[in-house]
Amino acid sequence: MRKKIVAGNWKMNKNFSDGLALFSEVINMANDELHNSQQVIVCSPYLHLHSLVQLNKGNTKVALGAQNCHQAEIGAFTGEISADMLASAGVQYVIIGHSERRQYFAESNTLCAAKIDIALKNNLTPIYCIGETLQEREAGTHFDIIKTQLAQATYHLSAQDFVKLVIAYEPVWAIGTGVTASSAQAQEIHAFIRKEIAWQYSAALADEISILYGGSCNPKNAEELFAQADIDGGLIGGASLKSRDFIDIAKAFN
Ligand code: PGA
Repeated sequence: MRKKIVAGNWKMNKNFSDGLALFSEVINMANDELHNSQQVIVCSPYLHLHSLVQLNKGNTKVALGAQNCHQAEIGAFTGEISADMLASAGVQYVIIGHSERRQYFAESNTLCAAKIDIALKNNLTPIYCIGETLQEREAGTHFDIIKTQLAQATYHLSAQDFVKLVIAYEPVWAIGTGVTASSAQAQEIHAFIRKEIAWQYSAALADEISILYGGSCNPKNAEELFAQADIDGGLIGGASLKSRDFIDIAKAFN
């Protein structure tokens, strides 16, 4: 059975005390209200992570993730954070290749490959983000774009490593825009991703991988999206900044 996951991506929001308060609400609501085996993940800014791990002690419903990591093991990279630092602080997941990092920080598929490698080496689970821009969709190249994003960043992995990944399909045109992909559009791409993985590795492996949808996911549309055969949950931006909305999205699995 594939893991059902709802991951919140806070991006560069919430100062330290507001972040702690939000996270406490998330833990309490998750413990009170989530009755299935869904995994809730909170990807906060780096600064908050260690304190959130402490707050979360003994709780398995919620896990912590980072929004990025550097690709090198260690060294003179002023301002950067390593995968080892994250893991040693109790962080379990790391988002890699988010479209905002691709757009504003020029992250390429090749760089993502290196980040995925260092994350896996340090026992972090990468949440690898892929997805096309509006222009690419309108030009009809979205399947090729997704295929390349997968191939260049992940197909060097052994099957044993690949199966540790979480994939997030996030059409760039749906991120933070209030425009959600329809459940049929999202399912079409998720099925395509799974087929590609099956072709590259095996059907059994493809069936084990959790593929999340991201892009204006909210409590109103989550249930229909998560009910699709190949959608195993969501990567949630804006709605993860409100505990009520975030947990209601996680409840779409209940
Ligand atoms: P959104 O962001 O839910 O605000 O659209 C999703 C994401 O960027 O992961």
